[in-house]
Amino acid sequence: MSSDTPAYLNGRFLPLSEAQIPVMDRGFIFGDGVYEVIPGYGGHLFRLDQHLQRLSHSLDAIKIRQPLSDAEWLSILSRLVAQCPGPDRSLYLQITRGVAPRAHSFPLNTTPTVFAMAETLSPPSQSWLTEGLSAITQADIRWQRCDIKTTALLANVLLRQAAAQAGADEAILLRDGQAIEGAASNLFVVRNGIVVTPALGHKLLHGVTRDLVLDLCRNENLPVSEEPISEGDLSNAEEVWLTSSTREVLAVTRLDGKPVGEGEPGPLWQRVHQAFQRHKAALRQQGSPAQTGP
Ligand code: PDD
Repeated sequence: MSSDTPAYLNGRFLPLSEAQIPVMDRGFIFGDGVYEVIPGYGGHLFRLDQHLQRLSHSLDAIKIRQPLSDAEWLSILSRLVAQCPGPDRSLYLQITRGVAPRAHSFPLNTTPTVFAMAETLSPPSQSWLTEGLSAITQADIRWQRCDIKTTALLANVLLRQAAAQAGADEAILLRDGQAIEGAASNLFVVRNGIVVTPALGHKLLHGVTRDLVLDLCRNENLPVSEEPISEGDLSNAEEVWLTSSTREVLAVTRLDGKPVGEGEPGPLWQRVHQAFQRHKAALRQQGSPAQTGP
């Protein structure tokens, strides 16, 4: 992130180094806000409609009014994309409840703080693609509403840090005997040749990349199932994958220090990864940020 990262704050476009918010912003004091991370492939904003739907879901869930229309978001994000170098970008946007005296309960009439920035998005490293990721399992210490994409990420931060300190790339979270998702990614396993990912609900984030990977599997005629993944399913999986906007779809090849399957990215992952790359290339061809599908 450089000081001239293009940013937007409360109606103004400005360099990131000039973007400032008051310390009494409830986002700073309480983590009282929500966010999105949206990849831009070429000039094309990846599944913008779905990201904005999830943003609306998060805002509604924490009772912040929608500060901008979808058309206004498209205009802001398109301008940030145009100002950001590189073939691909990562758009970050955040809305907090705004400035108020410190009290847990919130006034209903605050003006939300609206922030966005565009950074260059690097593809996953070659070693991640050829060797896969390492992961550790951790107890899921997060709250009961993991479907809300809130900036209150302390549990996720501690869990990812535990992975980093163990020399791993991600923590896979276990709750009530089930593997739920990663600290910042959704989880897939291959079990008896079937691609399995947990069904949506309050326990996990409704990942936009997760949805694309399910679509790609179906296009590849791979059997998919949205159902619980037990701890046993995870440790005996033929393949384990993680998906996110910044990491795409990556194979986990070491879990808690033991090899997953053959200890290298598996054959189904190879197919889905290649389909993902073809999908990205097709989006880049489309070019225009105003085009939001497929
Ligand atoms: N995080 N689950 C969690 C807890 C996440 O934080 C993320 C993404 C995902 C994947 O969602 P998507 O495919 O829509 O990116 C699942 C982002 C990238 C972040 O916090 O930076």
